[in-house]
Amino acid sequence: MTEQATGADPDTPEIPGKPTSASRTTLSHIMTHADTNLLGTVHGGVIMKLVDDAAGAVAGRHSGGPAVTASMDEMAFLEPVRVGDLVHVKAQVNWTGRTSMEVGVRVLAERWNESAPATQVGSAYLVFAAVDADGTPRPVPPVLPETERDERRRQEAQIRRTHRLARRRAITELREKRAAEGLDV
Ligand SMILES: CC(C)(COP(=O)(O)OP(=O)(O)OC[C@H]1O[C@@H](n2cnc3c(N)ncnc32)[C@H](O)[C@@H]1OP(=O)(O)O)[C@@H](O)C(=O)NCCC(=O)NCCS
Repeated sequence: MTEQATGADPDTPEIPGKPTSASRTTLSHIMTHADTNLLGTVHGGVIMKLVDDAAGAVAGRHSGGPAVTASMDEMAFLEPVRVGDLVHVKAQVNWTGRTSMEVGVRVLAERWNESAPATQVGSAYLVFAAVDADGTPRPVPPVLPETERDERRRQEAQIRRTHRLARRRAITELREKRAAEGLDV
């Protein structure tokens, strides 16, 4: 059965949806020598921090309050980033559940010494949970895709969500089975 993409909890009043463009965000940053690894290119962790920052801004905007990173998956580094590059981190909400959101992020680099258009150097998908002041998950507005590309991203995010849940369930079942057999204790 397909999971409901919107909060269909009878105890939760329906929240009006928000279009994708309402929270879409770009964060731009010039890379410096302080950002490099031993090879002289930009450290992956620096890019991951920017990705988390941009995605967090989007999740906060969409949900209208605090949101915490629940997971980060499929962080892909496609090309090295170099000192002097102007990096643009573009993020949008791809999918919403009841209290969580998947944010998709694309990382582009404008090479400081080339006139070519920005190159895509990375991508990532993060899940954020909207939380209240006590850190308890709270409902989020459904995201309203505005274009066919937004709709494709929503459908792909739903597939990733299904796989995350299935993987977590399978691992939990395996651990329970091994514990019942007296293994791994
Ligand atoms: C994320 C967090 C709020 C989830 O709390 P919880 O008590 O497990 O609450 P729930 O099980 O109801 O999960 C809330 C939502 O997050 C989703 N979620 C929780 N853990 C997840 C994970 N590892 N991956 C993907 N989604 C996750 C749930 O599916 C649920 O989504 P839904 O309401 O849309 O169906 C809690 O684990 C937390 O506070 N983690 C620390 C977050 C943090 O500090 N982040 C900064 C990184 S250092």
